[in-house]
Amino acid sequence: SLIRLRDYRAPAWRVEAVELDFDLGIDASEVLARLHLRRNPAQDAPLRLDGENLQLLAIALDGRTLSADEYRYDDSVLVVDGTRDGSVLETRVRLRPAANTALEGLYLSGPRETGFLLTQCEAEGFRHITFFPDRPDVLSRYTVTLRADRARFPVLLAGGNPDGAGELEGGRHWARFVDPHPKPSYLFALVAGHLEVIERGYVTADGRAVQLKIWAEADAIERCHYAMDALERAMRWDEQTYGRNYDLDVFHVVATHDFNMGAMENKGLNIFNAKCLLAEPDSTTDEEYRHVEAVVAHEYFHNWSGNRVTCRDWFQLSLKEGLTVFREQSFSADMNSAPLKRIDDVALLRRAQFPEDAGPLAHPVRPAQYSEINNFYTATVYEKGAELVRMLAGTLGRDGFRRGMDRYFERNDGHAATLEDFLAALGEANGTDLTPYLAWYAQAGTPRLKAHGHYDAAAQTYTLTLAQQTPAGHGAEPRAPLPIPVKLALFSPHGDMLPLHMDGQTSKPAIELVVVLDRAERNFVFTDVAAAPVPSLLRGFSAPVILACDYTPDELALLLAHDVDGFNRWEASQQLAARAYEELRDGTASAALHAWCDALARLFDSAAVDDALLADLLTPPGEIELAERETAIDPQRILQSRQALQRQLAERLGAENLQRRYLALLAQTGIELDAASQARRRLQRRVLELLALLDPVGAGALAATQYRDAPGMTDRLAALSVLVRSGAAQAAAALRDYRERYAGNALALDKWFAVQAQLPGEPALDRVRQLERDDAFTLKNPNRVQSLLGAFVRSNPSGFHRADGAGYRLLAERLVALDALNPQVAARLATAFNGWQRLEPRRREAAQAAIVELARQPGLSRNLGEIIDSVLNH
Ligand code: ARG
Ligand code: ZN
Repeated sequence: SLIRLRDYRAPAWRVEAVELDFDLGIDASEVLARLHLRRNPAQDAPLRLDGENLQLLAIALDGRTLSADEYRYDDSVLVVDGTRDGSVLETRVRLRPAANTALEGLYLSGPRETGFLLTQCEAEGFRHITFFPDRPDVLSRYTVTLRADRARFPVLLAGGNPDGAGELEGGRHWARFVDPHPKPSYLFALVAGHLEVIERGYVTADGRAVQLKIWAEADAIERCHYAMDALERAMRWDEQTYGRNYDLDVFHVVATHDFNMGAMENKGLNIFNAKCLLAEPDSTTDEEYRHVEAVVAHEYFHNWSGNRVTCRDWFQLSLKEGLTVFREQSFSADMNSAPLKRIDDVALLRRAQFPEDAGPLAHPVRPAQYSEINNFYTATVYEKGAELVRMLAGTLGRDGFRRGMDRYFERNDGHAATLEDFLAALGEANGTDLTPYLAWYAQAGTPRLKAHGHYDAAAQTYTLTLAQQTPAGHGAEPRAPLPIPVKLALFSPHGDMLPLHMDGQTSKPAIELVVVLDRAERNFVFTDVAAAPVPSLLRGFSAPVILACDYTPDELALLLAHDVDGFNRWEASQQLAARAYEELRDGTASAALHAWCDALARLFDSAAVDDALLADLLTPPGEIELAERETAIDPQRILQSRQALQRQLAERLGAENLQRRYLALLAQTGIELDAASQARRRLQRRVLELLALLDPVGAGALAATQYRDAPGMTDRLAALSVLVRSGAAQAAAALRDYRERYAGNALALDKWFAVQAQLPGEPALDRVRQLERDDAFTLKNPNRVQSLLGAFVRSNPSGFHRADGAGYRLLAERLVALDALNPQVAARLATAFNGWQRLEPRRREAAQAAIVELARQPGLSRNLGEIIDSVLNH
C-alpha cells in the first residue's frame, strides 16, 4: 500500500482542541481522549481516526455511549458514524508500555522497577496512544492531565505550560499542562518517572522569562551541564540570526538511553537519545561534544522550523529537516571553525548521502511515494535537503535570506506548509523567482558537473565551460537541468588570486564570484587574464554535485598549497589523494602520488595551516567514498590500496619527523574544549595513525602509554582505536581495562563495541560474534545495536563484505530477530545492503543470496519489507 504525494487531500475532519487524561502504569496505562471535532464543509466523509492496535475500553459521542453498530475498528482505523461539526468524541483505551519494544508511542526506558515512561510520536506514533487524525496538517490545542503513583512516578511532564498539579488519594498525584500553540499530533510528548533535573533561568530577547530544565536519571544528571550551555547559546543565536524567540514559559529536555533516533523536538518537551545530550571529559570525545551542541541546537531550532511552521504531509519532511539541519550547520560554524564544519558536513554527505543517491534506495529530497514514512528519515532528506537550503541562502545572500525567512515564518506561522510555500516566501521577499530550484527537490541522483578551462594567451581570455548531467534514476522523475551555483576564483601560476573580469560586466572586479549554470552547458568568459590560471571551483562546496575537472596533479597541488578557502584546500587534497590512490591501485604512473606527498610534506613542516585542517589534509577519502568511484567493488582491495597510500605519505613525512610532532602535541594535550586544543588532539591522533603504518611496534608502545595517561576520552579512544586497528600486542590489555573502567557507563561501552566492530578485514566477523556474547550486548537497545552491528555493517566495509558472504548472512539473521522487536531499527540496519549490485561478482552473488533468503521470511514488518523490496527490485 503506497502513499503518494499526488493523492494529497485536505483532512475531512479537524480536531480544534483535545483533552487527554493519562492514568499511567508500567504494565498498563489508560488514555481518555476528548476530541472537539470540526467538519471540513468541502468534504462529505465519515469520521475516520487512526489507531494502531489499541484496546478500546469505551467510546461516546456527544456524551452518549455508542453501541457496537455505530462504529467500526479494524485495528488500524476507527470509523464513527453520526458525527457532526462541533461533536465531541470520547474514547478510552488501554496501552501496554512495558511490552512496547518498538519504542514508538508510549514505552518504558530502563528496567521495569526503576525505569521511566516516555513517548515518541514522530512520524506516526500518536496513533499507538489514542484515536486521532494522526497527520501533520491537523493542528489542535492540547490539554494534558497525567495521573500516577507519586512514589513510582515523582516527575510528570508533558508539553506546554504547567497548569496545576496536586495530590490524589492512595499516594497518587496529578499534573496538568496546557499548550497554547496549536500543534500536530507528532509533537505531543509526555515523560513520567524518577528523574533528576538541572535548571537555568533565561529571558528571551522579547522579554519572556523561561525556565530551562534538563532531566536525566540520577547517574547522568551531572553530564547535562554542557547541553544546558549549548541550549542557551542556541537560543541566543536564533534570536540574533533569525529574530526567533522561544514561546512557552518552560522548556524541558529529557535524556533517555532507549531511543530509535537522535532526538525529538516535541513542543516544549524535547526528548534526546542520551548519546546526543550527555557530555563530560572522561567519557565524551571532542567530536561527540560538537555533536551534542549541534543536536541540542537542531531540536531547539525546530521550535520555529517545524513546530510553529509545520509540514502539510510527510512528503514535505525536508521542509523542516533540511532547513533545520542547515540552521544547525550555520550555528555550529559560528560556534566553532567554519571551514572544519564544512569539511565534516561534506564528508558526511559523501559517505552517507552520495551512496544512498547512487543505489536502489535513491529517492528525491521530496519523495513521490512511500510505504513506511520512517524509512525516509534519510541522509537525502536531511543532508541533501540542507544543501538545497544552503544553495538558496547563497543565492539570496545573507540579508536576502533573512528577509525571506522572516516572510516564511510570518506567513506560515501556525500552518502546515509545503516546499512551494517555502520557495514562494523566499522568492517574493526578494523579488525573485526561485521555482527553478523545485527541480532539485523532485529528482534523485547526484548531478555531475563537468568543468573545462581554455586559456587564450593572445586574447588574454579564459573560458570556463560548465556542463551538467544527472544520471538516470530508477524512478520516473523528470530530468530537468538544475540551477547549479558555482562559487569560483582563479589563481595565478604563483598561487595569487586574480581579479575576475567577467565578459560584459562593468562593475569593479571581485576575486570570488558565483556563476549559476542553469542549463545543460554554458561558457563563462573572463577577460584580462595575464597567464593561464588555475580555477578554484565550487568553493565551500556551493552545490551538492560531483565535480569532474581535468586538473593536472600540479594544479591540484597548487590549490592545496595556496587556496585560502579552507574547504577547497581540503578538497584539492582529497582529489589529489583519490588520484594517487588510483595510481597505486593500478600500478600506473605516480605523478599524483608525488604531488600529494610533496605538498603535504611542505605544509607539515610549515605553520601555514592550523592543526585540525592539517589533520584533515593528511587524511585521504575514506573507503566508502573510494568505493563510490568504482564499478566492481572489492572492499578488501580498497582497504589495502588506501593503506598503501597512507604508508607512502607516512614515509615521505618520515618516522622521526612524525614522532617529533607526536611528542610535541602529546606534551600539550589536555581536556580543554577550545578550538586550538581540539585541533591539537585531532592532529595528534592523525600523526599517531600514520606512525602506526610505518612502525607498528613503536607506535603500539606510544599508543599504550597514551591510552594509560590520557586526560580525556578523545585521547583515550584514539589510542585504543590505533591499538585495535594495528593489531598491537597491547590491544587486549587496553580493551580489558576499558571494559572494566566503563562497565557502568552505557555510552562509553558503546564505543568499546564500535571500536572492535571496525577491526579491518576478515577478523572482524569473529570479533562481532564474540562481542554478541558479552553480557552487555542486547538487541533491545538501539544504541547497542548500532554500536556493534551498525558499526560493523556500515562503517567497516572490509570486515562486513567478506568474500565468503558470512557478513551478509550474519546481518540477515540478526535482522529477522531485530525486526520482531524493533522494526525501525531493523530497517535502518538493512540499508547496509544498499550498494550490493555494484560489488564484484563473488560478493554480489553472496549478498543477493542473503537478501533473497531474508525476503522469504514470513511476517516481516512494513519497515523492513519496504527496504528489502527496494534493495532487491530497484
Ligand atoms: N524530528 C526528529 C529530528 O529532529 C527525528 C525524529 C524521527 N523519528 C522517527 N522515528 N522517524 O530529526
Ligand atoms: Zn530534525
